[in-house]
Amino acid sequence: MEALQHLRRDEIFHTIRLIYEDKGRVVDIRRTVFCTSVNLLGKMIFSTNVFDPHNPKSAWFKNSMCEMTKLSGTPNLADFFPFLRFLDPQSVSWEMAKHLKGVYDFVDLFIQKRFASSSEILERNDSKKDFLDVLLDFRSEDLTLVDIRALITDLFVAGIETTTTTIEWVMADFIRNPQKLYRVWQ
Ligand code: HEM
Repeated sequence: MEALQHLRRDEIFHTIRLIYEDKGRVVDIRRTVFCTSVNLLGKMIFSTNVFDPHNPKSAWFKNSMCEMTKLSGTPNLADFFPFLRFLDPQSVSWEMAKHLKGVYDFVDLFIQKRFASSSEILERNDSKKDFLDVLLDFRSEDLTLVDIRALITDLFVAGIETTTTTIEWVMADFIRNPQKLYRVWQ
């Protein structure tokens, strides 16, 4: 975490600059923080910006992340009555599998890109390695590419909506309680 602190700082400054440039206009905090969180994780894991709001694949990825968060919070009849599981009465499992595949495909793009530039992997020394390099170094029968893809997907799914929602609520709370904002500012 310490080794990659500069990446997080740069990404936060980039976001602050974007908000500042839009001074006077309404800021869509959820959208802004979502992009920052995705790119921040993307930089730590793949050393690249993974989210481009103008790219349809990125839009698909964003939609899948939101839908997966909603689905994971949906009460599922089949969890209460396991004999209904094979029927998947609310299509929760089916929908989840559909969106998960979309996210897997998105993550695969970056893993394949890394293989396509395999000379780049060899050239990186330890201090320049990102999370994907480290995972690939440990690749074995017990940590296959399928596991690596699942692990990276898990970080995106676990780390983006949580951060986005927390920051959105914190900002809303600051607007309702300016004295708290003032205390943080100090
Ligand atoms: C404000 C932001 C966050 C909140 C509120 C949050 C909240 C939580 C909570 C409550 C759990 C436990 C879930 C359970 O045991 O049922 C959890 C687990 C987890 N979180 Fe976060 N999280 C945040 C950010 C992140 C980030 C940024 C990452 C990764 C980049 C992450 C990765 C994980 C993972 C991998 C687990 C599963 C750990 C396990 O194997 O038990 N989280 N998080």
